[in-house]
Amino acid sequence: MAKQKKSDSSDKGQTAEKSKGVFDFNGGWDYSPSPESTGHVKLKERYELYIDGKFVAPDSGKYFRTTNPATEKVLAEVAHANEADVDKAVSAARKAYETVWSKLSAKERGKYIYRIARLMQERARELAVVETLDAGKTIRESRDVDVPLACNHFFYYAGWADKLEYAFPNRKVSSLGVAGQIIPWNFPLLMAAWKIAPALAAGNTVVLKPAETTPLTAMLLAEIIHESGLPAGVVNILTGYGDTGAAIVNHPDINKIAFTGSTNVGKIIQKAVAGTGKKLTLELGGKSANIVFEDAPIDQAVEGIVNGIFFNQGHVCCAGSRLFVQESVAEEVIRKLKDRLDTLYVGDPLDKNTDIGAINSKEQYESIKKHIEIGKKEGAEIYESKCLLPKNGLFIRPTLFTDVAQSSRIAQEEIFGPVLSIQTFRTIDEVIQKANNSPYGLAAGVWTDKGSRIFNLTTKLRVGVIWANTYNKFDPTSPFGGYKESGFGREGGLHGLGAYLKIER
Ligand code: NAI
Ligand code: MG
Repeated sequence: MAKQKKSDSSDKGQTAEKSKGVFDFNGGWDYSPSPESTGHVKLKERYELYIDGKFVAPDSGKYFRTTNPATEKVLAEVAHANEADVDKAVSAARKAYETVWSKLSAKERGKYIYRIARLMQERARELAVVETLDAGKTIRESRDVDVPLACNHFFYYAGWADKLEYAFPNRKVSSLGVAGQIIPWNFPLLMAAWKIAPALAAGNTVVLKPAETTPLTAMLLAEIIHESGLPAGVVNILTGYGDTGAAIVNHPDINKIAFTGSTNVGKIIQKAVAGTGKKLTLELGGKSANIVFEDAPIDQAVEGIVNGIFFNQGHVCCAGSRLFVQESVAEEVIRKLKDRLDTLYVGDPLDKNTDIGAINSKEQYESIKKHIEIGKKEGAEIYESKCLLPKNGLFIRPTLFTDVAQSSRIAQEEIFGPVLSIQTFRTIDEVIQKANNSPYGLAAGVWTDKGSRIFNLTTKLRVGVIWANTYNKFDPTSPFGGYKESGFGREGGLHGLGAYLKIER
C-alpha cells in the first residue's frame, strides 16, 4: 500500500513539475561556499633547484614567478635552470647511478620508493591544496584523483623493483642509466610520479623538469624525496622553461628521454634525439572520440561525456573532445547534455562544490578562446552553460558545438579546454572512419550495451586506450600511450617499466 502511495505522489510530482516547474528555483537556490582551508600550507617565497641531494641556487641567479590562475596572484618564485645547472644535475645523476643506485640491491631500491609513497600520503592534503593553487584544478580532483594516483604509482612500481626478472620472464633486463624527464602542467604531481617511479624501480637515476606554470608540487616532491633519505643525485629536479627542457634533451650523457606535452615540442625532441642512441618515449596530444550508440545507457553516457571533456577543465591529453552520437538518439543526448552543462559549477578551485576550476595559464586561456571563435566562424552552433563566472581569474564556461563538420578545425585540433565538438553518425563503419580521421590516436570511449560491438571497435580504432561505458579511468597497472601524432611508448603497468629497461633475449 505504502509503495502504491509513493508512486502516486511521485506521478503527481512529475505532472506538477511539468506544468508549474516545481524545480525552478529562479536561481535562488545555491550551495554554500565550502572552501578547503589553506592554513596548513606554508609556501616558501623562493624555491631553489634540487641537485645532488641539495637545494641550490641556479647558476644564472635568475628566478621566475608562478601564479594562481584562479586569482592571477603570485604564489612563489622558482629558479630558472640553465645549461650549467642541467650539466651539474646530469653529472650528479651519473655519479649516483654508477656509485650507489646500480650497486644497491633491488629490494633496497624498492624500500626507498615505498618510503616516498608513504611520505607523499602523509603530506597528501598539503600536496592537493598546493596543486590546486598552482594549477587551477579543483580541490576535489587534486584530493581524490591526482594525489592518490600519484602515491599509487610509487606503491605499484616499488613492488616491481625486486621482481624485474618475473616482469619479463626469460629475458635479460638491465637499467639504462640516467633518464631525462620533461612534464606538462595539466597533472603536475601525477606526471612526476608517472615518470620518476618506474625509472627508479628499473634502477635508473633521474633529472626531471616540471612545467613552468606548475612547479610547486614538484618542489614539494623534492622535499619528500630528500626526507626519504634517497641517496644524493638519484633524483634531481630542475625548474625552468623550454630552454631548460631542451638542455636536458640535448645533454650527451643522458640515456633516456621521457616527454609529455605538446605534439610540436615532441617533434622537436624526436629530431634532437635521432641518431644519439637515447631511448625515447613521447606522450603527446590527442583529439579523442567518445562514441555513443543508440543502445547505450543514455544517462550514464551523458555523465561519461561530461567527465570525458570537462574533467580538469578539459586540460587532458586523452579528453573525449570529439563526441559522436548515433543519429537516432542525438536529440535526446544533446538535450540532456545541455541540461547537465547548466548544473556544472565553475569557480573557486578550492571550493569543494566546484566542478570546473581555472584555466591553467593566460596563454592557454587565449588559445581556447581563439578556438571558440574559430568554431563560431566555421558555422558550428555554440552552446555555453549559463553559469556565472568569477569576476577575476581565468575561467571559461563549459561549451559545446553542434553541426560540426569533419573538416572543421574544432574537430581536428586539440583545444585542451572545456570545449566539446559534436557530430552524428548512422552506421558503425561510418563512425570508425570518422573517429580514425584524426592526426592523433590517443584514446576513445565507446558507449553501448553490446559487448561484441565493443570488441569490434577496439580492434578497429587506431588509438592506445579505449574505455567501454566509462571514460578517463586511470590505474597504475594499466598502460597508457598513443599512436600517430599522439606519440609512442607506454607509461603505466609493465609496459611503463619496460620503457626504462634494456630488455634482451
Ligand atoms: P609544451 O609542450 O610547450 O610544454 C610541456 C613541457 O615541455 C613543459 O615542461 C615545457 O617547459 C617543456 N618544453 C617546451 N619546449 C621545450 C623544448 N624545446 N624542449 C624540451 N622541453 C620543452 O606545452 P604548452 O606550450 O604548455 O601547451 C601548448 C599545447 O600543448 C596545449 O594547448 C595542448 O594542446 C598541448 N599540451 C598537451 C599536453 C598533453 O598532456 N598531451 C600537455 C601540455 C600541453
Ligand atoms: Mg601556477
